[in-house]
Amino acid sequence: MTDEEAVGMTVLLLVGGHETTANSIALSVLALLRDRAGWEALVASPDLVEGAVEELLRYLSPVHHGVVRAVARDATVGGTAVGAGEGVIASLFAANRDPAAFPDPDRLDLRRDARAHLAFGSGVHQCVGQLLARLEMRVALRALVTELPDLRLAVPFEEVAFRFDAPIYGLRSLPVTW
Ligand code: HEM
Repeated sequence: MTDEEAVGMTVLLLVGGHETTANSIALSVLALLRDRAGWEALVASPDLVEGAVEELLRYLSPVHHGVVRAVARDATVGGTAVGAGEGVIASLFAANRDPAAFPDPDRLDLRRDARAHLAFGSGVHQCVGQLLARLEMRVALRALVTELPDLRLAVPFEEVAFRFDAPIYGLRSLPVTW
């Protein structure tokens, strides 16, 4: 590796590793508190957290813009011809809401087997931090539901500010109380 490559990789690990996971935890808490049923289910059975994290990753798809690829050779993708050298954006969000893969996809169902989601991408560039990300989400959610079972939003859902302008979907802040 050159110095430049080493610095680039370090920045990627820091930004890719922090923004994504921090926002995934905040978005998950918001999704669970919005309709308290999910939150209460985890408070009653913290062991559901592991599966719930997979469903939250599917439902939220934090890397909203999808993954960008250059086409290596002429091919047909989803019925559309793409030529070598062209660019393709694969929407992870659309794949994670595909009713053929996940029935009733717009419903957050914490008991669904969502392990086949594509929130971490697919193929050789699939997220290298996904095991750490899963662990962080599990630890954070389990700690919150066991230590702060009465956690609730401090403002109406409509007043929570989203980061619609950022590549990693997330929240500007999440006001909570307990
Ligand atoms: C919930 C949290 C996370 C999500 C949703 C996420 C999602 C993704 C996605 C969609 C990709 C692109 C995959 C592709 O191009 O096919 C990616 C790549 C990557 N992620 Fe993550 N990530 C998360 C956490 C992390 C963490 C914790 C780290 C590091 C500690 C990390 C480091 C990376 C790196 C270095 C790449 C580039 C891999 C490559 O190009 O070969 N990510 N991530």
